[in-house]
Amino acid sequence: MTKHALLIGSGSCLPDRVVTNDELAVRLDTSDEWIRTRTGITRRHMAGPDDTAASMAARAAQAALDYAGLVADDIDAIFLATATPDQAFPATAVRVQALLGMTRGFGFDISAACSGFIFALATADAYIRSGMIRKALVIGSEVYSRILDWSDRGTCVLFGDGAGAVVLSASDEDDGRGLLATHLHSDGTLGDLLYVDGAVGQPDKTGHLVMSGRDVFRHAVSKLSSAVDEALAARGLAYADVDWLVPHQANIRIIEGVGKKLGLPPERVVVTVDRHANTSAASIPLALDEAVRDGRIRKGDLVLLEALGGGLTWGSALVRM
Ligand code: COA
Repeated sequence: MTKHALLIGSGSCLPDRVVTNDELAVRLDTSDEWIRTRTGITRRHMAGPDDTAASMAARAAQAALDYAGLVADDIDAIFLATATPDQAFPATAVRVQALLGMTRGFGFDISAACSGFIFALATADAYIRSGMIRKALVIGSEVYSRILDWSDRGTCVLFGDGAGAVVLSASDEDDGRGLLATHLHSDGTLGDLLYVDGAVGQPDKTGHLVMSGRDVFRHAVSKLSSAVDEALAARGLAYADVDWLVPHQANIRIIEGVGKKLGLPPERVVVTVDRHANTSAASIPLALDEAVRDGRIRKGDLVLLEALGGGLTWGSALVRM
């Protein structure tokens, strides 16, 4: 029986276009000061006309494969988290499979909004630990700019576009490295706090993201606190054992709240929300990739990932790099 899924590579894709808070303030009743002080966001990347969840995911995945020293046909499965798929079907994951030139294996999409990457990681981990596959691409890719109501200042300033990917590989070594724990939760009774208004079952609706910001904030603080406790308790670890927190990047106040709870100094919390805004399922792999590539996160470090999103969904993952 395989013991662990090792995280052996990561990659990112951010669209070229950068939109600052000041640019938004030209056409909206908002200000750089309001957005920065409430959320920590200063700018975000925005997809160009040719960028899609699949195209950005493929670029992030190729970067992760290159980092891991693998080619696409080394991969057995693609688990792709997105709330903004290119099409209802085929799954964005199989579009990515084609873009990578991958001639074998399988792929499917996972829908858990901003928690999507944690859900995809947990799924890939289970497939690897069961022995069903040995190598997986786990991707989060989003184009929220296409589901935002650009006249709603309460939501459109909060999100950005991008994709991040990691490669997981089965390891039979018992060296303590790899994915140590994953925990997933959802509560469908809270579905109306954050949702997209319209799809196949609601053809007369706008297709725009709708959010009760204050309620989501309140749930995020309490549910993410219990998610980090649950992750550490599963392995008998303490706050002091955590080297890095790589949280979902929704709001700097939520991120700092969890960091403080863990007793982590701010420099041990990876933050990208200032430059990327909330890229939903892409935010954790984007942040992780940045900190791996700039040398902050190193082999052997204990990294705690957590996220909350529409559903509500929430969860955590603990990784020894
Ligand atoms: N610019 C200026 N003013 C704005 C604004 C903007 N972009 N957006 C909202 N406001 C105004 C509101 O209209 C309101 O004005 P009023 O008091 O005159 O009615 C005021 O600011 C306060 O709005 P409110 O929504 O209560 O602000 P808040 O302090 O709760 O902050 C969020 C709003 C969205 C930043 C905050 O609730 C939040 O971060 N929630 C969590 C969101 C989240 O993480 N979502 C993703 C989860 S994956």
